[in-house]
Amino acid sequence: NYYAILMAGGVGSRFWPSSKSSNPKQFIDVLGFGESLFQTTYNRLLKLIPAENIYVLTNEKYVEMIREQVPQIKYEQIVPEPEMRNTAPSILLGALKIYKANPKALTIVAPSDHWLKDEDAFIDSIQLAFDSAEKKDRLITLGIEPTNPNTGYGYIKYDPEEKGKVKKVEKFTEKPNEKKAQEFLDAGNYAWNAGIFIWSAKFIIENFKKYLPEMYSIFEKGEEIWNTSEEKEFLNENYANAANLSIDYGIMEKSDSVYVIPVKYHWSDLGTWSSVQTELPSDEEDNTAVNCRLLAYDSENNIVSTKEKKIVVLDELSGYIVVEDKDVLMIVPKSKEQEIKEIRERVMKDF
Ligand code: GDD
Ligand code: MG
Repeated sequence: NYYAILMAGGVGSRFWPSSKSSNPKQFIDVLGFGESLFQTTYNRLLKLIPAENIYVLTNEKYVEMIREQVPQIKYEQIVPEPEMRNTAPSILLGALKIYKANPKALTIVAPSDHWLKDEDAFIDSIQLAFDSAEKKDRLITLGIEPTNPNTGYGYIKYDPEEKGKVKKVEKFTEKPNEKKAQEFLDAGNYAWNAGIFIWSAKFIIENFKKYLPEMYSIFEKGEEIWNTSEEKEFLNENYANAANLSIDYGIMEKSDSVYVIPVKYHWSDLGTWSSVQTELPSDEEDNTAVNCRLLAYDSENNIVSTKEKKIVVLDELSGYIVVEDKDVLMIVPKSKEQEIKEIRERVMKDF
């Protein structure tokens, strides 16, 4: 009864120029390991979920890319979204399809653009979550111990003293402002939401009914057509009417059935080039090379990524991101890495 929804519809614009809407972050080999994050995530889930039960939710323009990267995934398992509407509509759609296929389905929803080192520990915690969600109606998420007041994450308040590995969430706050994030960090009883959710298809659908009734009613109309040839036309007509909303704001912040499994293993959402650097070896001066051979003289704390294997020479350059893609070479100070999104937009406008 184990199923997975792999979320693969985002753009990853802070990884431009390597990541772009025609070839987003999850489909590229950001870490230079020889496979894309999507492929790594898929292989990780295979350890627990039968291949035929893994569904991929994505934008329609990425369907062929998914087939190329993992030919094992059949067209029926890929759900193409005609519009980008964030994660809530996408997760509801996946849940409805899975519920129709198997009303007893237990589902993990996982992003396809994250990095996890300790796969065995990950599998253990997912197994624990499945067991818990099978026994009781719960929305379970994995909680990462926070290390800084990052405002890009959801924060989960729980009682660390509570017995058992699955703990009741007291409050879920999606993307707090800086002041709040710092308070949460200082308080010590908060975890970061890893964006990995475990629940039964039945129970998450009930939560949509309760907390997002309008969204539910759009998709409810299509009940007879899920997993049939009429599905595509239905989605083309109706998908865009769903609110553009994330599951975090739409359900996790509101539901009183949210639980967390605090985990200790190493996890990264690979949000920026610096976070990539953290995952990779670097030389004594903290220079990191992805896909290239780096010769760095009087240079420190740079990350250099090239599309093809080549030698890159740096002399007296420090604190920079140097990224080469087919048509673009970008050289930007690390202090501006959060602005790469805007840099990309500017370039798209000007060229
Ligand atoms: N199918 C589909 N359709 N997938 C999407 C869409 C969409 O329209 N939009 C985003 N995704 C995918 C992304 O590719 C990513 O894998 C996942 O859904 C989460 O979306 P993000 O846009 O990356 O969310 P976020 O990083 O801002 O925040 C979420 O993740 C954090 C951890 O990385 C939240 O869940 C936070 O609470 C959490 O801390
Ligand atoms: Mg993300």
